[in-house]
Amino acid sequence: MKTSRRKFMQTSAAAGVALAGLANVHAQNNNDTIKIGLVGCGGRGSGAAEQCLRAGANLKLVAVGDAFRDRADGAVNGLRNNPATRDKVDVTAERTFIGLDAYRQVIAASDLVILATPPGFRPTHIHAAVEAGKHIFTEKPVAVDGPGIRKCLEAYAAANEKKLNIVAGTQRRYQTGYLESMKRIHDGDIGDILAARCYWNQGRLWHREKAQGMGDLEWQLRNWLYFAWLSGDHIVEQHVHNLDVMNWATKNSHPVRAVGMGGRQVRTAPVFGHIFDHFAIDFEYPNGLHVLSMARQIEGCENNVSEAVVGSKGQWVSSGYRISGEKPWALPARTDNNPYQAEHVALIESIRAGRQINDLKNVAESTLTAIMGRMTCYTGKAVTWDQALNSQTNIVPDRLAWDMNLPVPPVAVPGQTELR
Ligand SMILES: NC(=O)c1ccc[n+]([C@@H]2O[C@H](COP(=O)([O-])OP(=O)(O)OC[C@H]3O[C@@H](n4cnc5c(N)ncnc54)[C@H](O)[C@@H]3O)[C@@H](O)[C@H]2O)c1
Repeated sequence: MKTSRRKFMQTSAAAGVALAGLANVHAQNNNDTIKIGLVGCGGRGSGAAEQCLRAGANLKLVAVGDAFRDRADGAVNGLRNNPATRDKVDVTAERTFIGLDAYRQVIAASDLVILATPPGFRPTHIHAAVEAGKHIFTEKPVAVDGPGIRKCLEAYAAANEKKLNIVAGTQRRYQTGYLESMKRIHDGDIGDILAARCYWNQGRLWHREKAQGMGDLEWQLRNWLYFAWLSGDHIVEQHVHNLDVMNWATKNSHPVRAVGMGGRQVRTAPVFGHIFDHFAIDFEYPNGLHVLSMARQIEGCENNVSEAVVGSKGQWVSSGYRISGEKPWALPARTDNNPYQAEHVALIESIRAGRQINDLKNVAESTLTAIMGRMTCYTGKAVTWDQALNSQTNIVPDRLAWDMNLPVPPVAVPGQTELR
């Protein structure tokens, strides 16, 4: 059937109105208060809540949720005692939610939720927030296994349909030095990318002993870094930042295959759960590009948290944001920003303007890159992107109860641990 020009104009105009209406459903007038909720009231959650509250006018923290009362109260007291946020905290006893289901009530009470629990819970929390039509600031990483990543990718698509904003705590993407560097790399200033490398090598992190009478679940939650179902292991929990830069440098591509090795040589006491203390991986990207990745948490070794990209016409290093070669460049001194603040300003401005940012696909792919790295190191087998993405192994227990037995999984042994 032929559509007349007039009819086409009418239809387009109607569609335009509908689309404009859709885009504005979540836009908040500058005078409207954006109600913020915090799920996971630890160090980063408290920091993110402060940065979010400082990101504009008419912002209120209205609800918090945590597995534990001491953490929830600690975060609220800290924000109430902070001159920068004290007038923006409106959390009552009724809107302080405790327990593993606290996220549901926080989401219901808020326009925008900050998700900052250990990452094992993140897919469920992201999914629920998108389903409820709420904007999200999500800390990285966003999952610990293939099923969790698939849930995030579904939520990414649903959030796009609903025009929801999702900003992720892969903060290098909001950091001036990285943004300026990536613009140049993408514009070809170092030529074709021939190789790249990234590191998160550091000493030890905090740990918590199991107190007398404490159940398995409480101890693992309070000591979450050391259990893959909660943290993904440190390659996922920490090194995801550097792997994200690798994916970003290659124009948001991702590896197709990984081969790596790792183990647990120093941090072997039971308090360190079952995770590894070192990883080294050769990631293969499309077109035969190889990226070296290392992650170590061992005291007394060479430390290095950085990335570098080697091109046919030059080389970029993240330290000082410098390019050497045919088009030398360096970020002028003192022009870098605070990316932890910038990510929240971007989020609030986007909500206010009725625009959409959706970082979920990029952060889900960077998280899967790290998961793939863990899988090859735990098993000693080559792992493809599709194997990691389509893995049916859900490492997060289906049901959790405070009095449950939750044995510490065995430490993986390359060559013996099955690839699943
Ligand atoms: N972007 C960054 O630079 C950066 C820095 C640090 C941490 N992080 C990320 O932030 C997240 C939190 O890390 P953190 O350092 O704040 O840890 P944390 O241990 O200080 O805080 C985690 C909080 O979540 C709570 N919690 C655990 N399970 C919960 C559940 N099911 N429901 C509600 N609350 C629950 C804990 O009780 C705790 O208060 C992690 O994903 C971590 O990787 C990001």
